[in-house]
Amino acid sequence: MSTISLKNQRIVIIGGSSGIGLATAQQAIEQGAAVVLAGRSKEKLLQAQQYLGSDAIEIYPLDNRDEQQLQAFFEHVGSFDHLFTPGASYVRGPISSSSEIAHSCFNAKFWPQYNAVKYASPYINPTGSIVLMSGAFGQRPLADGASYAACNGAIESLGKALAVELSPIRVNVISPGTIRTSFNWEGAKQEVRDESYDHYTKINIVGRVGTAAEAAHTTIYLMTNNYTTGSTLFPDGGYILR
Ligand SMILES: NC(=O)c1ccc[n+]([C@@H]2O[C@H](COP(=O)([O-])OP(=O)(O)OC[C@H]3O[C@@H](n4cnc5c(N)ncnc54)[C@H](OP(=O)(O)O)[C@@H]3O)[C@@H](O)[C@H]2O)c1
Repeated sequence: MSTISLKNQRIVIIGGSSGIGLATAQQAIEQGAAVVLAGRSKEKLLQAQQYLGSDAIEIYPLDNRDEQQLQAFFEHVGSFDHLFTPGASYVRGPISSSSEIAHSCFNAKFWPQYNAVKYASPYINPTGSIVLMSGAFGQRPLADGASYAACNGAIESLGKALAVELSPIRVNVISPGTIRTSFNWEGAKQEVRDESYDHYTKINIVGRVGTAAEAAHTTIYLMTNNYTTGSTLFPDGGYILR
């Protein structure tokens, strides 16, 4: 059988207190897994723990941009089976943007995931897996996000390279299109977000924005299919084809 059950598996989700990470935790718990949720805000982690309402959840406040915090976190967690790393908050802008904006995605999304794998991999069981977070705008870029697109491309390449380097641990990447969450991209106001959601429904095949549960289902697939490694999956409603 090439699929594995998550029953009694231990899963670590950095960025698990909301959105796609939280929805993944929920589906993993429904399958009988124990989950460690990490994120910056202890309050959000406590709310997530309460929302999930399970004894099988540990929480750990962590800023994944700090390499030492990541190292201490994985020493604390010890042995586990699957790692998912959606935790990020960044901005994007055109090529004329400041260095701060230009470097934002790499600093908040690429290096934290790279470093998480660096410190996590000694503790991941050989039958386990890693799912990295990218984004479909890397394959079909927007007009104002060159470094953001490049960052997502780098994460997808990182996934392939780590699948080779860390085998038998499987490494895959999820690259969602627009998913309705509270993601803080550009600190945008609700009307800006609504406009962006409306636009997205017109530029993908399925004709709507995705849900966190749909993205989480993709992550669960990547954790549980034993023959899938080095892959990037796109829960994007067909966005990259249009
Ligand atoms: N939503 C979309 O349309 C979409 C599309 C493509 C890709 N993605 C990717 O999906 C990921 C998650 O997005 P989401 O939509 O689920 O957003 P979300 O609801 O805002 O969730 C982000 C999670 O990451 C945590 N986090 C943020 N910065 C962190 C840091 N420095 N250290 C540790 N944890 C941190 C947040 O908690 P704290 O704030 O408490 O730290 C929260 O738990 C992002 O990497 C994003 O690029 C999202």
